[in-house]
Amino acid sequence: MNASLKNVFLVDDDLTNLAIGEKTLCDFYNVVTLNSGARLLKLLEKKIPDLILLDVEMPELNGYETIMYLKNKNEFEDIPVIFLTAKTDSEDELRGLSLGAIDYITKPFSPPLLLKRIELHLLIESQKRELMSQKEELILLNSSLNELVKVKTRTVVELQNAVLKTMAELVECRDDTTGGHIERTQIYLQVLIDALRKSGLYQNEVSSWDVELILQSAQLHDVGKIAIEDNILRKPGKLTDEEFTKIKGHTTFGKNIIEKIKQSTSEHDFLEQARTLAFTHHEKWDGSGYPMNLKGEEIPLQGRLMAIVDVYDALISDRPYKKAISHKEAIKIIKSESGAHFDPAVVELFLSVSDEFYHVSKLHKSNLWDEIQK
Ligand code: C2E
Ligand code: SIN
Ligand code: SIN
Ligand code: FE
Repeated sequence: MNASLKNVFLVDDDLTNLAIGEKTLCDFYNVVTLNSGARLLKLLEKKIPDLILLDVEMPELNGYETIMYLKNKNEFEDIPVIFLTAKTDSEDELRGLSLGAIDYITKPFSPPLLLKRIELHLLIESQKRELMSQKEELILLNSSLNELVKVKTRTVVELQNAVLKTMAELVECRDDTTGGHIERTQIYLQVLIDALRKSGLYQNEVSSWDVELILQSAQLHDVGKIAIEDNILRKPGKLTDEEFTKIKGHTTFGKNIIEKIKQSTSEHDFLEQARTLAFTHHEKWDGSGYPMNLKGEEIPLQGRLMAIVDVYDALISDRPYKKAISHKEAIKIIKSESGAHFDPAVVELFLSVSDEFYHVSKLHKSNLWDEIQK
């Protein structure tokens, strides 16, 4: 046996045919001759050839029965089979092809023709296999491309976050708050959303949320304050009605700024969340909030969560217009606003994780303004 040659099994009950066939093929292939279908099946358990030449008319297991058996077995179904037939009946030939043979050759065969046909079919088979492996390579390549895109996307998302964070912190500086508000509110919101998920409350809404996106967009909830005059924003005392009316505009300004960004990008999920938070974080459950006087569940859930998170941090922090109050006092105020300013269910949720809020409140970050002026 020559390892560089392809292996052909020749199956025929006629010994003369086997002898002629072997003589024709043996210079070009490793030929194994078998005089029955049963012997073929037995040998296949040990060795898989590149091609089978299969006689149709055989006692016991005939060619049709043999090929049906092969095509039903995973390990044999891909072996190309050419029928050898004495018949010139096209119906029989058709039957052979329909059972999965790749070709038929009529006996008695002309040796050069037999060789040509076999060569052709083996070529087709090897090209088929090459295509298959190229396809597999393509699939692999495609998955590594996907991986690359993921890495790139992560980089872009990181850049986007960094830009957003700085932008939000600059707004915070204008506000002259003590710093860290943006970062803390993001963590409070995460705590609250985690609790919400565990509780099963508002499950229909929450299950469809991309939490990461909401947390990121929360950084922009007060972005509209950019448009508020310093002398109002930093006024040490109580605002006049007129001034407060102006300040209320930060929700609508925020929405407009984000809508403006929306016009110049195809990214909409993030901006839609940011828009909702900026526009609705000062709505109140009883309908007395702004800018839309939305009531109860008319206020998007994100906005209802943001409201409690925003007020908690405002209460426990110094502002130009007021001193910080303690965690305990803040809880008292929030409790008393249940059903008035806040969604009662969200207040319950907040109370169940208020210890965590307290821990987060101790996270003090220096003001970006101080950092960049060093
Ligand atoms: P902010 O300082 O970030 O406060 C956010 C929200 O926290 C407030 O929304 C309010 O609901 C709640 N909050 C803050 N401090 C207190 C407090 O001492 N007691 C109670 N019960 N709630 C408090 P609000 O009122 O719609 O105000 C929006 C923004 O307007 C504030 O954001 C702040 O920038 C500004 N602002 C509000 N009142 C005054 C004020 O009297 N003087 C000055 N200079 N700015 C004010
Ligand atoms: C408010 O209580 O709604 C206004 C916050 C403040 O002026 O202290
Ligand atoms: C929004 O405009 O983002 C929501 C406010 C609403 O529900 O009308
Ligand atoms: Fe606000």
